[in-house]
Amino acid sequence: MNPSPASGDLCGRLGLTQPLLNAPMAGAAGGRLAAAVSSAGGLGMVGIGGGVATDWLERELALAAAPGKPWGAGLMAWVLEESLEPLRVVLEHRPALVCVSFGDPGAAASMVRDAGSLVAMQVGNAADLQRALEGDIDVVVVRGSEGGGHGRNEVATLPLLQLALEKTDKPVLAAGGIATARGVAAVLAAGAQGAWIGTRFAACTESISHAKVKEAIAAAGTDDTVYTRAFDIAQQVPWPAEFGGRALRNQFSDRWADDVESLQGAVAASTSITDTVEAARRDADVAQAPVYAGQSAGLTHGGESAADVVADLAGFRTYLRASVSRW
Ligand SMILES: Cc1cc2nc3c(=O)[nH]c(=O)nc-3n(C[C@H](O)[C@H](O)[C@H](O)COP(=O)(O)O)c2cc1C
Repeated sequence: MNPSPASGDLCGRLGLTQPLLNAPMAGAAGGRLAAAVSSAGGLGMVGIGGGVATDWLERELALAAAPGKPWGAGLMAWVLEESLEPLRVVLEHRPALVCVSFGDPGAAASMVRDAGSLVAMQVGNAADLQRALEGDIDVVVVRGSEGGGHGRNEVATLPLLQLALEKTDKPVLAAGGIATARGVAAVLAAGAQGAWIGTRFAACTESISHAKVKEAIAAAGTDDTVYTRAFDIAQQVPWPAEFGGRALRNQFSDRWADDVESLQGAVAASTSITDTVEAARRDADVAQAPVYAGQSAGLTHGGESAADVVADLAGFRTYLRASVSRW
């Protein structure tokens, strides 16, 4: 096992006072959310999807860097396979950590390392983990199937975390289904160096998601999500078929999630479904548009600032101490 440059205390190396990161979420985690999380002692991350305008990117990255604290960014490997330009722009702003997930991180990972930033990758099964351990990834983010947004629906967070910790001494972060101080305590007790949290931060006041989207996440229960490719097929987004997304169940997913072959046929035959979902996204019509969120939506109350969420999650120390004193 080759020790990675980031082996040891990742949070100390990044200068964090809380072992907490907001997940890089396209459409939710812009520079304001990242700045708020970094200012609260965690690592704020900006989520960068496909087709983002360079001026938007420049603005959000400048916002993330403004507090003068370490911050990071997350990009999609399958998007970077077409052009590394968004990554070049990101690296000019000197992030501490860059996560490249969902596809082959290859050239992008080398570019991040050459720029002096740490490179992370989200892994969703044993094969992804093997790929991340092969040398060029500094930080492994195990992302269980409970998690919101795109990823795999194969292995839950806890088995994936245990597997990664058995296989490597690289720093491992845990993602998927973590939304409370109890959840943070659980993954830290197992050996994760930090918690990577999406859904709860997506509903924060600093999230760039539409207010109706945040309200829908806050109102949802743990059983109200679905894992599906239906929204991507409807919008003709070229996500690799192996990555679906976990979103809130709604009228659209109730109709199509179990019938994606018919959906593919209907989308090929007419633009009407694509037009409907695109309009629903513009109008934040949460009955028809994708609202990406994980099972921890049921633990997310909304209306909170990112600093409030970090302060609440920092209560993990109480649960760790209670567990140690009991056992
Ligand atoms: C609204 C939303 C958007 C997301 N967008 C991205 C993204 O752009 N890039 C990425 O690497 N992960 C993205 N994810 C996945 C997160 O990085 C992370 O795996 C997930 O949120 C963790 O699970 P949790 O939502 O239960 O905390 C997104 C998640 C959500 C909820």
